[in-house]
Amino acid sequence: MLKSNSSHHLYGFTDLKSLNERGPLVISSGKGIYVFDIHNKKYLDANSGLWNACAGFDHPGLIEVAKKQYEKFAGYHSLFGRLSEETLTLSDKIIEVSPFDEGRVFLCNSGSEANDTMIKMLWMLNLRKGNPHKRKIISRINGYHGVTLGASSLTAKPYNEVFGFPLKDFIHTDCPHFWKYGLENETEENFTKRMADNLETLILKEDPNTIAGFIAEPVQGAGGVIPPSKNYFDLIQPILRKYKIPLIADEVICGFGRTGNLWGCETYNINPDIIIASKCLTAGFFPMGAVIVKKELADEFQDISEKEEEFPHGFTAGGHPVGCAIALKAIDIIINEGLLDNVKYVSPYFHERLNEFNAYEHIGETRGIGLMAALEMVKDKKTKEPFEGNMNMGDKVANMSIDNGLICRPLGPAIVLCPQFIITKNQIDEMFDSLHKTIKEAFV
Ligand SMILES: Cc1ncc(COP(=O)(O)O)c(C=O)c1O
Repeated sequence: MLKSNSSHHLYGFTDLKSLNERGPLVISSGKGIYVFDIHNKKYLDANSGLWNACAGFDHPGLIEVAKKQYEKFAGYHSLFGRLSEETLTLSDKIIEVSPFDEGRVFLCNSGSEANDTMIKMLWMLNLRKGNPHKRKIISRINGYHGVTLGASSLTAKPYNEVFGFPLKDFIHTDCPHFWKYGLENETEENFTKRMADNLETLILKEDPNTIAGFIAEPVQGAGGVIPPSKNYFDLIQPILRKYKIPLIADEVICGFGRTGNLWGCETYNINPDIIIASKCLTAGFFPMGAVIVKKELADEFQDISEKEEEFPHGFTAGGHPVGCAIALKAIDIIINEGLLDNVKYVSPYFHERLNEFNAYEHIGETRGIGLMAALEMVKDKKTKEPFEGNMNMGDKVANMSIDNGLICRPLGPAIVLCPQFIITKNQIDEMFDSLHKTIKEAFV
């Protein structure tokens, strides 16, 4: 096996101790939901790459479209009013399939870039509307929104302290995870009420006139797959409306089918003002992010930008014609070639098998929706006391799982499963049978 120090690669989000011990897993190809390492060992990738390869790793339609587009027009930017027709077609398609009747789309290369773009739009809009102090953005503890400067400040995870984040104007509120943060004898309804009350108190304390937006993932993904507590969005949306605070739905993970509907917003009755998308938008075949803005806000922003002469922002590769051609095809196959239907079809079985893991002494909670789930490991199931060195336990189980031919991701004390939208029931069995084996080995 390759050792980490045998290459000049600098690893991000990688447990370096275990990397040094085990070396990297170097993948050389993929077929359907499986990947193959350089020794030709086969793995079921239960994480769809990184939540994105929803159509599998070798979808012929996506490959064909990419090849054709490279032959037709291999690359261009989308700035200064010059752009490819694929870029325009994709923007129209995204609005057509979005929850908005009308609106505008800004294309970039990642979820992080999309979030930073959204922040700059809100700041520019508010400044030019005469509200220079309306800059604060509220996000939630355990929310993950990316790694660029703005996005990192939205991401409310302890590891960001090392960079001195959050920056000024970024505020973090509660994570609505009832199992973890519910008080003794508190019902889930009362917990949600407490979350909503805390949010309103925070808004009043900060001054509603200084708050530019509230961002939330419909289901927190990289925070550990945390669906909102019961009625959470029903209770917080009226508060946001009351104080005229735009709601930004970060659909980077949930968007394009993951929760069993095209949008997580549909699953939880969320009425956002802005949607952030990425990942499954190109089925993992091209880097892309999108800021999708509903008409009212988009019109206002267009007006302000015209007065300013432009929105002084853009990325060289944003709206790349090959990426756009791939995204058009990915959207088509998700909606019209049965991927979304399959998510709906196999999800109940996926959760039936997931529930089996509640029987283990050291699994504290299993949770999820659609084709996303987590199993959280605890030392003591009754008290929910975590294992010492939370990170290490997730990493240990994930590494053992890889040895058993199943790639799943450690997230602190949790193991995450988010398979491809093309997964079959038999493959779900293969995935969970392998995980049973690993969990039994891990806790003997
Ligand atoms: C909800 C959410 N937002 C934003 C991002 C950042 O996206 P990227 O890694 O493409 O910058 C992620 C990445 O996982 C995400 O899950």
